[in-house]
Amino acid sequence: MALETMGPMLRAAKEGRYAVGAFNAVDYGSTLAIVRAAEHLQAPVIVQTSVKTVKFWGCEAIVAWLREIAGRSPVPVALHLDHCKDLDVIERCIAAGWTSVMIDASSKPFDENLALTRRVVAMADKAGVSVEAELGEIGGVEDDIAVGHDDAHLADPDKAVAFCRDLNLAVFAPAIGTAHGVYKGEPRLAFDRLEEIARRTGVPIALHGGTGLSDAVFRKCIALGCAKVNISTQIKYAFIDAFVDYHAAHREYEPLKPLTAQLDRIRKEVAEKIELFGGAGRAGAKP
Ligand code: 13P
Repeated sequence: MALETMGPMLRAAKEGRYAVGAFNAVDYGSTLAIVRAAEHLQAPVIVQTSVKTVKFWGCEAIVAWLREIAGRSPVPVALHLDHCKDLDVIERCIAAGWTSVMIDASSKPFDENLALTRRVVAMADKAGVSVEAELGEIGGVEDDIAVGHDDAHLADPDKAVAFCRDLNLAVFAPAIGTAHGVYKGEPRLAFDRLEEIARRTGVPIALHGGTGLSDAVFRKCIALGCAKVNISTQIKYAFIDAFVDYHAAHREYEPLKPLTAQLDRIRKEVAEKIELFGGAGRAGAKP
C-alpha cells in the first residue's frame, strides 16, 4: 500500500475505542520491525521519526525506505514527524512525502502556539497531510529537549476547546501528566482532564510518554479517548539492548546476527503493544 495519512486511521480508532500505536523508528531495520509487527496482527500502524533522526539520515532516505516497506505491505502505514518546532523541517518533510506532522509550539504562549499551528495546518492541508499539535507541556526529554516536572503544566480544558475549534487537527496532544523517557515512580495522570478534553474537543487524543505506563493505564486512557499512543524510549532500549545482549552472549563478528536479534526484539515488543492497544485486526477499519 502507499503511505496513508493518519487522520482517517485515528478517526476509525476513536470510533472503535482502540488506539493506533505510533512507534519511533531510528533506521531501516527498526522501521521494518515495526511494520512487520503490524502485518502479523493485521493492524494499522504509525511510524514516527524525531527531528534528530530526520537530520541524521535526511528526508529522502527515510521516505525511500518507508515507501519501499509500506509499498509491499498489506496494512496501512503512516509516516509521522514527531515533536517539531521548526517550520522549515516541517515544510521539507511535507515536500519529501511525510503523510503527517506534529507542530510542537507548546512552550510558546497560547496565542503564538495557536498561530503557528494554524500556519502548519494551512501548509499541510494543501498537501493532504495530517497535523498533530500540543497544548500544555509534556514532561521529560524528547529529541534532546528537556521539560522539567515543575515546568510541565497540564492542558486546560477551556483552552483546549478554543485551540481545537477551528484547527482541523487529525490528533491533539494535551499534557495530562505523562512524560517522555523513563518514569521515576508512578506517574499521576489527570484522567478527568483527559476525559473532559476528549469529550469537549471531539478530536482523537494522542497519548505521549507511553514507555513505562501500566497496561491498566493504557486501557483507561484509550477508553477515555486516546486514539494514538506514542512509544519511543522502549524502542530505543530494545534497539540497543538486543544488539548488546546478542554480542555479549555470542562474541561473533557477523553483524547480521545481532541485527536479526534487534529486529526480532523490536517486532515482539511492538506486537505486544499493538495487541494491548486493541489495534489487531483493524487494518481495514474506516471511519
Ligand atoms: P516515550 O519515549 O516515553 O515512549 O514517549 C514517546 C513519545 O511520546 C514521543 O513523542
